[in-house]
Amino acid sequence: MGRTIHFEPVVTSTQKIAHQLANDGTPEGTIVVTDEQTSGRGRMAREWHSPKETGIWMSIILHPNIPVSNTPQLTLLTAVAIVQAIEEETSLTPHIKWPNDILINGKKAVGILTELIAEADRVHSVIIGTGINVNQEKFPEHLEEIATSLKIESGKKSDRAKIIQTILLRFETLYLLYLKEGFKPIKLLWESYSISMNKPITARTLNGTLQGEAIGIDDNGVLLLKKADGEIEKIYSADIELNG
Ligand code: BTN
Repeated sequence: MGRTIHFEPVVTSTQKIAHQLANDGTPEGTIVVTDEQTSGRGRMAREWHSPKETGIWMSIILHPNIPVSNTPQLTLLTAVAIVQAIEEETSLTPHIKWPNDILINGKKAVGILTELIAEADRVHSVIIGTGINVNQEKFPEHLEEIATSLKIESGKKSDRAKIIQTILLRFETLYLLYLKEGFKPIKLLWESYSISMNKPITARTLNGTLQGEAIGIDDNGVLLLKKADGEIEKIYSADIELNG
């Protein structure tokens, strides 16, 4: 990972550049990284606040030989790699909220956005964007309640380059394990870091709101929600709120 690194001090979005590089056939493991994004994007077409030299704004390009339906597994793998790196580089204990938010003391410190270039049902490229709030001391008012940074939670400034290095090492180890042994070992690790398992939750999907208990994830990383009537619903995409 990271043998080809594309760095620019300011970009619109590292995802946008990564798409161009992927279409031009850049090698697997290429990293696009910047100090500042002017149009950073998050899930569900939201904006991603990416101020100058405070966070890690990075996209990883992969060319795995997997079906499109398996790609959520790579988002979960990335979350595990980032949690491990934060644990290694700081005194913090982050948790994962399905599918891809990393929380520290209940607030979001990391977001992951996975995008695809596919032909029929086979993946050509996966572009995994990660936004990590590292050294911010303050957030704009509309984010204050929900967002945090490693600095706010630990009281210490972190070296962004060192964290990137550790993430790439952890990511490579997990990705090689995934290619060799499949999703099972990654799933176990993910579950050990998850904050939403066996908890009552509200899932807001594009088709409406569902309530129940998060009882696990399936082999594709899809969330399994047990409703009050005992029926198990598969949740492919949603915002999750913890109710207990
Ligand atoms: C989320 O909504 O939680 C996902 C946020 C992903 C943000 C990262 S920052 C680097 C990459 N470039 C983008 O424009 N977005 C992702």
